[in-house]
Amino acid sequence: MVGKIISVVNRKGGVGKTTLSIALGKAFVSEFAQSVALVDLDPQGTASQVLMRDNDYANLLRREQQGPLGTTTNISLVTLMKSEETVFDGMMSRCRYGMVHNITGRADVNFDLYPIQDEFWEFEYEEFRENQGQELDSKIARMLTTLTNTGDPRRRDWVIIDCPPGFTRSSRAALMASDMILCPFTPDEISVLGIPSFNSALKKLNRESGTNKRCYWICNRYRNQGNSSARWLRYAVENHADLLLRAGGLAETSENMDPLQSAYPIFQDSAQVQNNMSVEAPMTLQQTFGNVNANQIVSIAKTIKTEIEQNG
Ligand SMILES: Nc1ncnc2c1ncn2[C@@H]1O[C@H](COP(=O)(O)OP(=O)(O)O)[C@@H](O)[C@H]1O
Ligand SMILES: [Mg+2]
Repeated sequence: MVGKIISVVNRKGGVGKTTLSIALGKAFVSEFAQSVALVDLDPQGTASQVLMRDNDYANLLRREQQGPLGTTTNISLVTLMKSEETVFDGMMSRCRYGMVHNITGRADVNFDLYPIQDEFWEFEYEEFRENQGQELDSKIARMLTTLTNTGDPRRRDWVIIDCPPGFTRSSRAALMASDMILCPFTPDEISVLGIPSFNSALKKLNRESGTNKRCYWICNRYRNQGNSSARWLRYAVENHADLLLRAGGLAETSENMDPLQSAYPIFQDSAQVQNNMSVEAPMTLQQTFGNVNANQIVSIAKTIKTEIEQNG
């Protein structure tokens, strides 16, 4: 089977794109024993920092800044995308950072990371200035084709793309190659009001590209008590029901759950955050990412699988 591509995207920052990308990847690996490649397309490199062991990320940055690179060291998407067409394939293998032991400790499932670094912002801008970004588009498409191509040793069941905020040249290329576009939003006014504007931008992109991609919105950072989560989730459902990810009877239910949540799966704020446990001792990025609600993410992963199997 050809691997499936999911882009996790929103114009807004801080809505949980990275959290959802990582948690979803982990769920595919540990719950379904499927393989995952996570492509970090956000030059802020949050996923890369969180997922790379010890000083590996810092070392990668230092080496790339020092250049020229040897032939055995890991590279980031910046070096990969700069590389000549003829060596691109080999460079892709050097960009691959295998993390199976971090994720499950099992040898029969794989979680690969394709890291990025800050310099990608500038590189992308230069690419656009020089050739309207066409070369970058085709390299991203080539990379995603390789990662999903049956028979290629780097092929994974799922390719998850952690997109940057906004609607950048590279994220457009990723969206156009995706089987599913997943947009996390937080239950607050600004985030919810961004739903239709993103949708219009996607429609425009569809018109330009002759495609028909839709996006699936999912509520993240829902809180059961003491804020207006329920109100903004309801508002989103009332105004944009057709854009929201629908559960299909698979959502986790519990006593204090809003009935809407069984129809539209949500991703709650982790218990640690809801209980303010992070206030006394600030959590590291790794801890925060490790503390999300496992049952909910598994139910979201199942919903996504079903949706893609039915419609793609
Ligand atoms: N479900 C969640 N529970 C607890 N904290 C979360 C959750 N989702 C996101 N966060 C926190 O919110 C912040 C922003 O999330 P992040 O995934 O980095 O957003 P984005 O990638 O959209 O910028 C991070 O500090 C992250 O740990
Ligand atoms: Mg992010």
